[in-house]
Amino acid sequence: MKTTVIASLTLIASAGLSWAGAPEGKEVYTAMCQICHGPNGEFKANMAKMLNATIPPLASKEVQAKTDDQLKQVILKGQGKMKPVSGLTEKQAADVVGFLRTMNAAPPTDAPKIDRSKVKFLLAFCSKGTMYDNNAVQRTVDGIVASEIDLSQDVTAMQLLQMGTTFAQETCPSPYPFGSISVSLTLGDPAKFTDVKNFIPPGQVYGSTKGAGNQLEWNSYTNIPRATRETRIQQIRGAAQAKQREAVLEEQRQAEQRKQSEIAARSSGFVKANGVAHFVTAEQLAANPFVYQGQVVAIYGAFEQMISATQGLFSSQDKRFVVSGIPTARFTQTGSIVMLAGRVVGNIEIKVPILGPTLVPHLSFVGSAFCQQQGCSEYAINLR
Ligand code: HEC
Repeated sequence: MKTTVIASLTLIASAGLSWAGAPEGKEVYTAMCQICHGPNGEFKANMAKMLNATIPPLASKEVQAKTDDQLKQVILKGQGKMKPVSGLTEKQAADVVGFLRTMNAAPPTDAPKIDRSKVKFLLAFCSKGTMYDNNAVQRTVDGIVASEIDLSQDVTAMQLLQMGTTFAQETCPSPYPFGSISVSLTLGDPAKFTDVKNFIPPGQVYGSTKGAGNQLEWNSYTNIPRATRETRIQQIRGAAQAKQREAVLEEQRQAEQRKQSEIAARSSGFVKANGVAHFVTAEQLAANPFVYQGQVVAIYGAFEQMISATQGLFSSQDKRFVVSGIPTARFTQTGSIVMLAGRVVGNIEIKVPILGPTLVPHLSFVGSAFCQQQGCSEYAINLR
């Protein structure tokens, strides 16, 4: 699936080439031409539609191939769907032509700044080529560009191609004049790409050069249409997000596992320390404490009050039970949730307001632990 827009341009990528154009021409251009042709001559799609015209990019070969005089004629006399631009002096027309000529030289100074940390170039190979002569050198540079960089902008793509070219020149020094340099760019995370071998040639933005010495002349590049690029970005982002979601889920699973094994360890520690035979609920114990008589059970409840110095009253799910033989000052706060280990004695009678004398289960104290969680769930009493 390679839907590409082919644009041709000529780009002199030599070091030391000045980006300054014809400043007066630029002023004229901004005032009189930009509205239809865009700041970089790349043409405005909505304007082309409105005028029902095809407007070639002003940096394109077909426009640049025209002589200065021909361009001046277009401006002063009009051509096709373009009406003559009125009110321009000969000098202004010449200036603006001068400015048009700078469009093919290099990106304008107001081109978007590219954060270099978001671009990475890898040199795929650097070899003697055979395109022109036996001494020619071919260099292939692959570039990874952070996905937020807008490759669909011609100016940005050109800047990146130029960066790739510079990279090739610096990284692959050679006594030979080179035959060609090709640069291909893809979107991705620059930090992740460290090896050319891991690079999947994308053919998304492609530049190739020919020339001699450092007089590079870009003869073609392929840029991706915005829609394709946006789909690609969404794919990259979507994959990253899915990974992140999976990581969060995995973290949750592991946390839950840790919690469960902590509960198991705490629970079995309590069982071991106190010789617990069963975990029971107050309800189970109240129905028939004699089943467990003489055995040590683990039961949780809220401490209500001490009935005597060593006897305490506890409750759980509306059921009460009494524990005897409690060490002094073990329980001092009404409402404390407690995990108790106690040997089942049987029943004992307590006086309950309104109900009067009531039989409740009776345990003799073996051990206890204070709980933080509702229902002492950190001891997994409910799981039994
Ligand atoms: C009202 C919109 C509009 C304005 C303003 C305008 N142009 Fe154009 N221009 C067009 C259209 C439409 C075309 C395509 C003409 C055609 O149909 O061939 C075009 C084409 C061109 C071409 C390419 C000619 C070719 O086919 O090789 C050049 C060069 C050009 N314009 C320069 C300028 C300059 C310089 C200015 C300002 C001084 C300017 N234009 C102002 C609409 C405009």
